[in-house]
Amino acid sequence: MRIGGVAYRTIWVDPDDGWSIRIIDQTKLPWSLEIVRLTDMAQAAHAIRSMQVRGAPLIGAAAAYGLCLAVRQDASSEAMERDAALLAATRPTAINLRWALERMLTRLRNTPAADRVRIAYEEAAAIADEDVAQNEAIGRHGLKLIEQAVKPGRRVNVLTHCNAGWLATVDWGTALAPIYRAYDAGVDLHVWVDETRPRNQGAALTAWELGRHGVAHTVVADNAGGHLMQHGEVDLVIVGTDRVTRTGDVANKIGTYLKALAAHDNGVPFWVALPSTTIDWAVSDGVDEIPIEQRSAAEVTDVTGRTTDGKIATVRVAPVDSAAANPAFDVTPARLVTGLITERGRCEASARGLHGLFPERS
Ligand code: MRU
Repeated sequence: MRIGGVAYRTIWVDPDDGWSIRIIDQTKLPWSLEIVRLTDMAQAAHAIRSMQVRGAPLIGAAAAYGLCLAVRQDASSEAMERDAALLAATRPTAINLRWALERMLTRLRNTPAADRVRIAYEEAAAIADEDVAQNEAIGRHGLKLIEQAVKPGRRVNVLTHCNAGWLATVDWGTALAPIYRAYDAGVDLHVWVDETRPRNQGAALTAWELGRHGVAHTVVADNAGGHLMQHGEVDLVIVGTDRVTRTGDVANKIGTYLKALAAHDNGVPFWVALPSTTIDWAVSDGVDEIPIEQRSAAEVTDVTGRTTDGKIATVRVAPVDSAAANPAFDVTPARLVTGLITERGRCEASARGLHGLFPERS
């Protein structure tokens, strides 16, 4: 994607030294675009845990590059397994993190220690490039849905939750990829952006990246979606996901389930966009089996923003003596999902639908 005419990915190898990793620090957006340099495994783990990088596909790529930095420090098998486990523990819900590390380890376990650094960078680059290609294909397959929603003389209204745009992936995004495609194809469209409390990925990140691309959008409070759907203001919902079970249940940012319920009640199509790296083929029941990350209560009790004099400030919005809980994801059962948009095309959110697109998994 381009920011101010410059093409960016969300993560890349520093071209000057050929080994350190550059990321866009997403905790600083939308106030400033800051590029951070990662030089060791601990910094990579911190970047994932603190959500300087976030979004399922991107944390997979970040973990892969984190392992590159780790083997650069110590390429022994013992250290490599230990560091992969440390990276895997940074965030529990997005399956892409474990998928990427498992793929790296599979390649590296069969590589002599002396060649591991070179092979690690090669494999991480492949993971990043494949993510871009998969998301680009999701954009093509999802575009048709938006085109089908076009009615003469009326713009298409899409609602999305959290940030599943290019910031959440290496490039393009998942849920936003069809939106960028549609915009580029000249479709008159507008996006309702859920603010996505507690961390406000919608208000801060989705609104920012849609704005950089020129896509018309409106930020709404998370609770506004049902009302908008009741009044015919939403033609379709498209969200991303952190893990899809083999049966089509969808884990995504907290609040996604409520949007799916409202969509179901109002006959609004509810689509989920994902690269196949987000499918957990080992899990059948999303509600019971997907681990849900519990984050700090401070993310709920406090809000960070920019004051009128330009300072970034964090203020408390809850009483100091109130407890807060912060489950970061929820699971939408497959029965509430209209369908899945993958790099191979669209399918029903079910074991049959997924196996139809991925017969090698049957
Ligand atoms: O906690 P986050 O910001 O990492 O959560 C991100 C999401 O829930 C996204 O919707 C999901 O990772 C899909 S990203 C293409």
